[in-house]
Amino acid sequence: MLSRVFQLVKIARKLSTSGAVNTINQLYNLPLVVNIFFKIISIGSETKASNEDKQPGEKLCLALEGMGTTFIKLGQFLATRPDIIGENLAKDLEKLQDKLPAFDTYEAKKIIQKEVGDNQFKNIVELSEPIAAASIAQVHIAKIKYDSSEKEVAIKILRPDIEKLFNEELDALMLFAYIVENTISKAKRLKLVEVVHLLREITNIEMDLRFEAAAANELYENTKSDKGFNVPKIYWNYTSKKVLTLDRVNGVSIREQDKLKASGIDLKILAENLIQHFLKQAVRDGFFHGDMHQGNLFVDKSGNIVPVDFGIMGRLDKNNRKYLAEILYGFIQRDYVKVADVHFQAGLVPQNASRDEFAQALRSVGEPIFGQSIKDISGGNLLAQLFEITEKFNMQTQTPLLLLQKTMVVVEGVARKLYPETNIWEVSRPVLEDWLKSIKSPKSTIDSAINTSAEIFKRIPEFPDLMDKASYALQLLAEGKLNLSQGTNKNLELEQMQLKNFRNNIIIGFFGIVIIILLVF
Ligand SMILES: Nc1ncnc2c1ncn2[C@@H]1O[C@H](COP(=O)(O)OP(=O)(O)O)[C@@H](O)[C@H]1O
Ligand SMILES: [Mg+2]
Repeated sequence: MLSRVFQLVKIARKLSTSGAVNTINQLYNLPLVVNIFFKIISIGSETKASNEDKQPGEKLCLALEGMGTTFIKLGQFLATRPDIIGENLAKDLEKLQDKLPAFDTYEAKKIIQKEVGDNQFKNIVELSEPIAAASIAQVHIAKIKYDSSEKEVAIKILRPDIEKLFNEELDALMLFAYIVENTISKAKRLKLVEVVHLLREITNIEMDLRFEAAAANELYENTKSDKGFNVPKIYWNYTSKKVLTLDRVNGVSIREQDKLKASGIDLKILAENLIQHFLKQAVRDGFFHGDMHQGNLFVDKSGNIVPVDFGIMGRLDKNNRKYLAEILYGFIQRDYVKVADVHFQAGLVPQNASRDEFAQALRSVGEPIFGQSIKDISGGNLLAQLFEITEKFNMQTQTPLLLLQKTMVVVEGVARKLYPETNIWEVSRPVLEDWLKSIKSPKSTIDSAINTSAEIFKRIPEFPDLMDKASYALQLLAEGKLNLSQGTNKNLELEQMQLKNFRNNIIIGFFGIVIIILLVF
């Protein structure tokens, strides 16, 4: 208990001295008592000169980056929650850099040895200096002996003690969230305890590299016969909770267009392939890479796309996939009544809503898009607008679809950087058509596919229930990493109960510490 409070004081000082509190105060006008609290807590330490010329969002990013892993992760998480912190701040937080100084290669070797055992460790040679270092892990290149040959691999290693540090800081943040939620009535809306709880669940999964290995493996299996998309192979004998070993990607970053061109790669085709592979994985397999920014995409000599970093994956169930394919296809065909029907038949929009009004609203999303020049058309933006409208009609968007929509915006952005004139509709159409055809009996038409999907929606009882809970499940669900099991709720309840029991002690202990600090400084 005392250690939690002590940790909290440390964090409060960190928050205050990093300039984060000043910036939050600028944005939200914190109550006087909170300001006084932070002033007291930071007595004796110097507040970093805040970057006065910068925007508050930018300043907050810098402050969070300076505070290390836990706060970088908190910032990244909040960036996905505009419903809590507002669109603007969420957009600002998207720019948060996930970079930290690398730890020593000697330390890295010790971790690998402990994790994979002495025998396997002997088979690892030529471990490089770190080639990239982020908040949770860093990556080295090495060679391993494998099946009597030598393989070049990349080894991703968790930062030393990162799990312990993260959970300790989160314990303290939880306490902080609880105190704020119970003392400032306006803060209830922010659901701080829930935010911290979810952050813990998500990040603890990210801190187990076996999950990432399993995701890479699943993506590999799903796509092994797809031409043009190669997922690196995982070496399970050299993989553990803290170490992930996979084939080294010998390719050019998709960012380096000049190099790509120089090696004879057709950027137009590359851009089209990227969109098609992504869409195919989403609708055919219901499993997609959820972090497809340029830094995670490479292109090999033959023009194959090679992704890395399988920490965030999206999973769409059968209903989501049909919904997605039919809706996008409906929009491409400009058949708004059909798109409206999918929603109504599936019971996604209340039956008492007006079908005509809904179709009209869909038209207002779709038509302006067709007036745009090809290079401005975006499936991701279309989905974003669609979700805004369905929410107005009381349909809560499922989180997996939100992750898909966000990833689609990123994928289209990468494709457009490669080839600005990429025609998203033309490129997407065959993938959607093929898939919709493949799920139909030969005689039936696309129209009947819509009916069947509506039937499936109806027959699956947990669907509406799932949607109710979607806001709670947040990213966990989107990432397909966690089921909406009772366990999650129980964990949160348990954590809340413990906090309640702690409450009186906390307040006493807390003020005790503040007094001690005041006496010391
Ligand atoms: N298999 C690999 N082959 C070559 N480089 C890799 C490989 N895996 C990762 N990297 C390099 O390391 C960087 C960080 O790895 P990544 O898995 O993206 O970690 P993070 O989750 O920290 O972003 C990548 O951007 C890439 O440059
Ligand atoms: Mg990455």
